[in-house]
Amino acid sequence: MPAVPRRRPGLFVVDLDGTVIGMVTVNRRAPERPGHIRPEAGEAELGYMFLPEAWGHGYAAEACAAALRWVADALPGEPVVLCTQAVNNRSVRLAVKLGFTEVERFEEYGAEQWFGVWFSEPPSG
Ligand SMILES: CC(C)(COP(=O)(O)OP(=O)(O)OC[C@H]1O[C@@H](n2cnc3c(N)ncnc32)[C@H](O)[C@@H]1OP(=O)(O)O)[C@@H](O)C(=O)NCCC(=O)NCCS
Repeated sequence: MPAVPRRRPGLFVVDLDGTVIGMVTVNRRAPERPGHIRPEAGEAELGYMFLPEAWGHGYAAEACAAALRWVADALPGEPVVLCTQAVNNRSVRLAVKLGFTEVERFEEYGAEQWFGVWFSEPPSG
């Protein structure tokens, strides 16, 4: 066990009327994983997980959009990456709705992964 727990840029718990329904994370993408948009790796990466009973109401979209606004403030100009199984239609739909664009697909954990990037402002040039 490390003496100091690993730090992450962001961890958000989402509650609905006082009940936890999901979480949104912002981590640094590990260099050894496939899928990067810069040579030094360590990109800010969005993750999300909601209880199935909370799906289909737009809660994840609302929470993730708020987290991305937070990233835009806390880490100005930093792109955010996202990786999800390509067969996870709900997740890919959410990513595209949030403004992520597909960069590439690759195999990891025995499945095709959808890897995308989001910019707080359109990249110049
Ligand atoms: C991925 C995940 C967060 C998506 O949840 P979700 O509820 O489908 O996502 P959204 O918040 O975008 O909601 C969209 C749905 O809400 C519906 N909706 C209802 N009212 C809405 C409203 N007022 N505003 C927006 N959407 C609304 C939309 O029509 C859509 O439903 P549909 O897909 O049946 O058409 C969820 O499936 C999940 O937690 N999965 C397990 C974890 C996981 O796979 N994580 C990915 C790895 S990073």
